[in-house]
Amino acid sequence: MEVYAQDGGVVRRYAARLSADPALIDRASLREGGRIVQLAPQGGVGLDVLDLSTANTTGTFKSWMVCLAVAQCLRKGSPLVLTQSSGNTANAVAAYAAHAGLRAVVLHPPASRRRIVPELAEADGVQFVEVDAAEDEIKTAMVACSEASGVPIAPAREDMYEGHKLRAHFLADAARELGRQWDWHVQAVSSGYGPLGHYRGLREVLRSDPGGVRVPRFLGVQQEAVAPYVDALTGGGRETGADRPVPAVLEPTLFRRALTDELVAEMREVCAFSRGTVRRLANTRYLQLEPRAVTLLTEAGVSVARDDAGAPWERAGLYALAGTLAAIEEGLIRPGERALAVFTGGSAPAPPRTYEPHWLADRTDAEEVTTRALDKLRP
Ligand SMILES: Cc1ncc(COP(=O)(O)O)c(C=O)c1O
Repeated sequence: MEVYAQDGGVVRRYAARLSADPALIDRASLREGGRIVQLAPQGGVGLDVLDLSTANTTGTFKSWMVCLAVAQCLRKGSPLVLTQSSGNTANAVAAYAAHAGLRAVVLHPPASRRRIVPELAEADGVQFVEVDAAEDEIKTAMVACSEASGVPIAPAREDMYEGHKLRAHFLADAARELGRQWDWHVQAVSSGYGPLGHYRGLREVLRSDPGGVRVPRFLGVQQEAVAPYVDALTGGGRETGADRPVPAVLEPTLFRRALTDELVAEMREVCAFSRGTVRRLANTRYLQLEPRAVTLLTEAGVSVARDDAGAPWERAGLYALAGTLAAIEEGLIRPGERALAVFTGGSAPAPPRTYEPHWLADRTDAEEVTTRALDKLRP
């Protein structure tokens, strides 16, 4: 059951908290939304979902951040932008850039091809480059290309922090209206910008209203195959050895393997500040919990998109809820507490077909191919 919603422009509503020009946010905005849905309690734990999927144009929590990023690009006056993504940011940049009249070159790894929405990728003014290379090599090629060409990267790092900090303002208003506070804030983590931005925002809320909101304990959930934060913060919690099979990647969006020291330090700090933690969810455990997570969401009115075989199309949002259910069963989240799991994506329908990239590149020619893609979009 939906208990709280804001639609028609969350980013605009909190524009005074941002460094972007509100008029440019208006130009960039695609009416970003968000809502809180109450689920059936589990094991004596009150359970809510922060649904950042259903109301946003490309179906994920990236919309708020990309709206801000595009507003900042409009301020910089560059007609062209560059981005790289595991899929969701790619779709959001393509949609927001087209809406704001910008042109965009988007790099993504092969595993993300099926996540790209063909109508967005095939629009005028956008070029997609599929790069068969490791994630850090794709980033290096993009940065080199940006430096050589002067074309800005969107979202910039500051946009990621700033865009996601709006979540704290949204939740402070929701908490006030609902008369409800959360003991836990749970998100599936890849780079970690969602929660890191959120906790920066929470400090901002507390500065203007000390004691106004409870600081929820952060629970970051990582899939078994890609859990660098867990390894860095907790030493892994997993047996390793040459004879152990390599676990499958269940969600390609949660793909970031190499973290910077700054990201690890800030996540460590968020966990210390909130008395939180990051945990690895084993594949077998996730798959056991997935049907229950889907049922709970569906019963509460959150639609979960499926592929042709009936499996959930995107699992990042489900990982947060499955991780919450696991933490309840294991007694980390305790009876009497209230948890908020963030549904970061998963309700937008699966694209009807797989798109064809405009360009294919690998680690040896990614920079050169990206430069050619940029040239193609120059007036
Ligand atoms: C749907 C979805 N959920 C969660 C994440 C994790 O984002 P982050 O770790 O940067 O907060 C991503 C990003 O890749 C995503 O697309």
